[in-house]
Amino acid sequence: MIVRKTAAELEKMRRSGLLVFQILQKMKEIAVEGASTMDLEIAAEKMIADAGARPAFKGYYVPAAGEAYKFVLCTSVNEEIVHGMPNPRRVLKKGDIVSIDTGVKLDGYYGDSAVTVPIGEVSEQTRKLLRVTRESLELAIEQVRAGHRLFDVCGTVEEHVTSNGFSVVREYVGHGIGTQLHEEPQVPNYVDRRNENPRLKEGMVLAVEPMVNAGRPEAVVRKDRWTAVTKDGSNSAHFEHCVAVTENGPWVLTRP
Ligand code: MF3
Ligand code: CO
Repeated sequence: MIVRKTAAELEKMRRSGLLVFQILQKMKEIAVEGASTMDLEIAAEKMIADAGARPAFKGYYVPAAGEAYKFVLCTSVNEEIVHGMPNPRRVLKKGDIVSIDTGVKLDGYYGDSAVTVPIGEVSEQTRKLLRVTRESLELAIEQVRAGHRLFDVCGTVEEHVTSNGFSVVREYVGHGIGTQLHEEPQVPNYVDRRNENPRLKEGMVLAVEPMVNAGRPEAVVRKDRWTAVTKDGSNSAHFEHCVAVTENGPWVLTRP
C-alpha cells in the first residue's frame, strides 16, 4: 500500500527536506581536496543534532549487510555506487567524485537526499556523467504528477541515461518515504515490468535517486558488506530528491 500524506504531513516532510538540503550545502563546502570523508560525517552529525533531528541512516538495519549502518552519511567515492562509509583515511583528491547521501527524521517524518560533487577538476567524461545523472533526476521529477504512472518516472531516468551512453544500476532503487525511510513503492531507475505500475496520486512522496555508471551496469558489494561498487571499476554518480505529488505538480521537498 502506498501511503498518501495530508497537507499538514507534507509540511513536516518539508522541514526534514530543508534540513537535509542545508546539510548537503555545507557538505559541498567541506568536500575539497585534502578533506576526508570522516570530516564530512562529523560536520553532518553535528548539524543534525543542532537541529534537534535524528539521523535516518545511523542505526538503520539492512538485512543484506546483516547489521545496522553506523554513520549519518553515505560517502561513495569514484567507482563506489552507494553505501560508502566515512573513513578518516579516505582523503579526497583532485579528480575524484564523491556522492554524499544523508537522511534525517524530524517531528516523525523523514527526508533523504544525495548529491555527487567533483573534487577540483575532473575529466570531461566524468563531468558528463554528473550532468547526465543530474538531468535524469530533473526529468524524472517532472513526471511526479497526479495521473502519471510510476513507470513514467522510472522510464524517464532509464531513457535519458542509456541514450547518453551510460547505464543505470539495477540492484539499488529509490523508494516511497514518509514516517518510514523506505515505504512503498520501490522506484527503480528502469522500467521493471515484474513490478506494478501504480498511478500517482496527490499526497504520495517518492525518493527518486538515479545511480548511474559510466560503464557497465553491474554492481558488486565489497567485503565490508556495505560498499556497493561498479563491477567494471567505472565511476558512478548518484543524485536524490524527495518529491511530493501535489495539485500544483511536483514539489521537491529537499530543496528551497
Ligand atoms: N539513500 C539511501 C536509501 O534511501 C541510503 C540508505 S543507507 C542505510 O536507501 F544505511 F540507511 F541503509
Ligand atoms: Co533514498
